[in-house]
Amino acid sequence: MFKKSVIVIFTVMVASAAWALSDKQRADIEARIAPAAKVCLQGDNTCGGAGAAASSGPRSGEQVYNTYCTACHSVGVLGAPKTGSADWTARIDAKGLETVYANGVNGIGAMPVKGTCGDCSDEEIHAAIDFMVPQG
Ligand code: HEC
Repeated sequence: MFKKSVIVIFTVMVASAAWALSDKQRADIEARIAPAAKVCLQGDNTCGGAGAAASSGPRSGEQVYNTYCTACHSVGVLGAPKTGSADWTARIDAKGLETVYANGVNGIGAMPVKGTCGDCSDEEIHAAIDFMVPQG
């Protein structure tokens, strides 16, 4: 009888210890899988990463530039005006900023429409151009 109740108590202790542990483990696992398990819907700002960037207003000129324009404009591929160089001021002096903006959106020569950023707004393209024009 005495022996039996010791075993029962012991079993209860082990069981509750295991329960406490598995509670903590469950919380750990939930925390670990939460980011991956979350479904990101368009327009939903809670997920972070690219989805949030796309839905949190216009991208900066720098962001657009780094993603779409740098490939050609950093080194001047096919005669593209080089970032931060006098190539830009020469073009702006010759045709005016509005024309340069428009050509950035519509494409010109080997320059693709919107510089390959198909989902960029005109404003985002303008901001990317501003980023490439030498400052000051
Ligand atoms: C595939 C290469 C390529 C990519 C990518 C590219 N460009 Fe260009 N871009 C060119 C070339 C080549 C020219 C020169 C075209 C010419 O004057 O005939 C040019 C010229 C321009 C001009 C000058 C237009 C003018 O009137 O003189 C603007 C503005 C411009 N690019 C904006 C951008 C922007 C903004 C991006 C990124 C969103 C971008 N480009 C991405 C190749 C590229």
